[in-house]
Amino acid sequence: FFRTKIPEGLRRLPGPKPLPIIGNVLELGSKPYQSLTAMSKRYGDVFQIQIGTRPVVVLCGSETVRHALIKQGDDFSGRPDLYSFQFINEGKSLAFSTDQAGVWRVRRKLAYSALRTFATLKGKTPEYSCFLEEHICKEGEYLVTQLNNVMKADGSFDPFRQIVVSVANVICGMCFGKRYDHNDQELLNFVNASDEFGQVVGSGNPADFIPILQYLPSPTMKAFININARFMMFVKKLVNEHYATYDKENLRDITDSLIDHCEDRKLDENSNVQVSDEKVVGIVNDLFGAGFDTISTALSWSVVYLVAYPEIQERLHQELKDKVGLGRTPRLSDKPNLPYLEAFILEVFRHSSFLPFTIPHCTTKDTSLNGYFIPKDTCIFINQWQINHDPELWKDPSSFNPDRFLSADGTEVNKAEGEKVMIFGMGKRRCIGEVIGRSEVYLFLAIIIQKLRFHAMPGESPDLTPEYGLTMKHKRCHLRATMRARTEQ
Ligand code: HEM
Repeated sequence: FFRTKIPEGLRRLPGPKPLPIIGNVLELGSKPYQSLTAMSKRYGDVFQIQIGTRPVVVLCGSETVRHALIKQGDDFSGRPDLYSFQFINEGKSLAFSTDQAGVWRVRRKLAYSALRTFATLKGKTPEYSCFLEEHICKEGEYLVTQLNNVMKADGSFDPFRQIVVSVANVICGMCFGKRYDHNDQELLNFVNASDEFGQVVGSGNPADFIPILQYLPSPTMKAFININARFMMFVKKLVNEHYATYDKENLRDITDSLIDHCEDRKLDENSNVQVSDEKVVGIVNDLFGAGFDTISTALSWSVVYLVAYPEIQERLHQELKDKVGLGRTPRLSDKPNLPYLEAFILEVFRHSSFLPFTIPHCTTKDTSLNGYFIPKDTCIFINQWQINHDPELWKDPSSFNPDRFLSADGTEVNKAEGEKVMIFGMGKRRCIGEVIGRSEVYLFLAIIIQKLRFHAMPGESPDLTPEYGLTMKHKRCHLRATMRARTEQ
């Protein structure tokens, strides 16, 4: 890479000098999003580091990232062949595999359309506007009851442990038409251990870049392989049940609709991109996996922020009381009337930046950015955390302040400010679950804030230090929740 001939008119990428064998691993440290932000101050928005012997190009700065992912979207839309990715969905993941562009495009389109169809489908009960709303409202109300019961029994609760089951039930309902009890061991087995997944696939894991490390015993890697296997076993059982009971005239959920697509395709001789049935039906693994971990992480962080900022929690409750009232469950249609809640969510996304990097990208051909040459097949890290904490974009970026997103009179969310937050990626690889993700975070929060008040344990205060991974978690903790008194209601 360092000896690569640079085409005329382009420059060689700047970056720190690598050490032999390990490259710049030591400089990356345990918080790569911060160390790479610090490096961007020295080297600019586009620079190169080396992890082991493999070069990686890091992109920072809103304009530079927008240019790469939108204007030059095709050039930056690949995925690198990283060691850990081969264990995800048996190497056939839509989000992590190195599928050829044509195959990835067909799968992405199918995934997007299946998600949209089943989210917007009319609910079973006329009182709900759609299937998604029905699932979230029911799970949200059940979560309130569950938290109340756990509080009565144990006097405290672990937010991630409780929230993840409710969120998993929403996506499970859409993917498999099924819900699970909060104590179901089969589900808890992997949803409650998703940090073991994120720790390994977070950008910059040395084992992905230094082959010798793959042969050394690693408890983290063992746990990662194990959680992937448990996840696959869980999904395969459900998929097999669907094949056995599939009825073309009654497509029950996303799995049925993907099976149906394979059946229809067998009749379509003209299709020019060959995608195996396994890769089509396997899309459901990605939707289920991406659909529970991200949203539960967002919600769990939100609850910890509510506890850390009680005056914000009270203002959110007051907004719900004024705009929705306390006699009915909030709905998706209430969202435009709850600007402070929307501002709070945007600030949780920005401040926590719990997805500090996108999934790593890879160049699909020789290209250039800001005048620097980047060869084909170069691994690219996109630093979302840097964009969300850039002092050029944000006033006092380290303070938690939802008001930064509100208009001067506090009655509206400033759309342009909201769009500056980067948490779903951008361009060709942008998250396909964004609409569902935003709706779910909003509606679950509206339901629990309306009914409950959250507190820290006596003598404790919440720890907002993130633990690094693909999705960064807060430290596991115990909190208290009390039902709001009737008089308050
Ligand atoms: C990809 C964020 C919810 C499905 C991504 C990426 C990010 C992201 C950062 C990577 C973009 C890139 O590589 O450039 C989030 C956040 C969520 C969320 C913050 C919730 C708050 C969901 C949900 C689903 C989903 C609910 C599906 C049910 C996917 C898929 C990809 C993806 C399939 C891979 C797309 C591709 O590689 O083409 N998401 N996501 N996500 N997300 Fe999400």
